[in-house]
Amino acid sequence: MAVNPGASPTQGGGGAPMLQSFDLFPTRVWQGQLAALQPHFAQWIAWVLALRAEQPTPAGRTNRGGWNSQDMAVLERPNLAPLRHAVTLACTQALEEMGLGKPRFTLQSWINLHEHGGFNFLHMHEGSMLSGTFYLKVPAGSGSLVFRDPRAGVLHSAVKGPVPNGHCDIELAPSEGLLVLFPAWMEHYVEPHEGHEPRICIAFNANSPAGV
Ligand SMILES: [Fe+2]
Repeated sequence: MAVNPGASPTQGGGGAPMLQSFDLFPTRVWQGQLAALQPHFAQWIAWVLALRAEQPTPAGRTNRGGWNSQDMAVLERPNLAPLRHAVTLACTQALEEMGLGKPRFTLQSWINLHEHGGFNFLHMHEGSMLSGTFYLKVPAGSGSLVFRDPRAGVLHSAVKGPVPNGHCDIELAPSEGLLVLFPAWMEHYVEPHEGHEPRICIAFNANSPAGV
């Protein structure tokens, strides 16, 4: 792959060579506010709490100190149809940007709820094309979503911080109505929830349909 031919040269001073910089190995995430769906939020929160009361055993996986749904297709529920529509459009756009043309995918989706102290330990969504989260209830003290720098070698960088060739993890502070999409292979975790109201999100994967 050729490096970016459009990069701007950095003017050298005092006889220093004129350098061009190239940012290689970009990793793209997407965010958007689903403000138009806000009128549904109260009803969806009540529905999540009722579902939890009905099926209180958490699915587990990487969730600790909370509850996650056994149902891995919650976006197929008729009451969540507007959210499913928005998620489908967002995944389609992101997958198109990833070079997949007119992408075909199936959605896997589940609820993640954190009580006080709840968190998700470090993981990735192996085998999926794209992953994401929609934040339904984000009380004060909600834990951040943290992305680990996916460049294995940079873990050993002598330079730390959000600078070229530095190493740092990236924190994303959630807010109600926020939709986030990210590569399924990028490791991430969720900081402990410091609030006392539940933190609720609906997570999803876009998966390749069988045989495609
Ligand atoms: Fe995750």
